[in-house]
Amino acid sequence: MSHVSRSYDFSNPDAAYAELARDLRALLSGEHDLVANAANTAALIWEALPALNWAGFYLYKSGELVLGPFQGKPACVRIAIGKGVCGTAAARRSTLLVEDVHAFPGHIACDSASNSEIVIPLLRGVELLGVLDLDSPKHARFTPADARGLEELARIFVASLQ
Ligand code: SME
Repeated sequence: MSHVSRSYDFSNPDAAYAELARDLRALLSGEHDLVANAANTAALIWEALPALNWAGFYLYKSGELVLGPFQGKPACVRIAIGKGVCGTAAARRSTLLVEDVHAFPGHIACDSASNSEIVIPLLRGVELLGVLDLDSPKHARFTPADARGLEELARIFVASLQ
């Protein structure tokens, strides 16, 4: 499990995410359990990415998002589809990158340290499984390169479940 504690050089984000994708595939290899793989994915992202204060999952259950495995401070448990950054990304079924959460109407503040956020919907075909949510205390922490890299990690996570 040496890949869990290695460091990644995000001065070249595409290269760092390529390494992270390879390590995530290795970490999830042979395991299909949703909670176990979500927990390890959140832990790997938390260890690898600089300047995060929250990283984890909300899972789609009975028409709403319910808190799943994560790293960071305790968070709000249920988010309606269409509400907050997570619920908006889930409703749109597309990645939502928010440079300043305080300027996002309806942002749900779980940790007052958060200033920027990125949410990636987890899709299996047209089926919504949940979202991957990352928060940062830095303004405009997340870039299109983060979106690309995290979307690939989300695809690897979803593929691991079957
Ligand atoms: N900020 C999110 C809520 C989840 S926490 O960030 C962990 C939102 O607006 O949906």
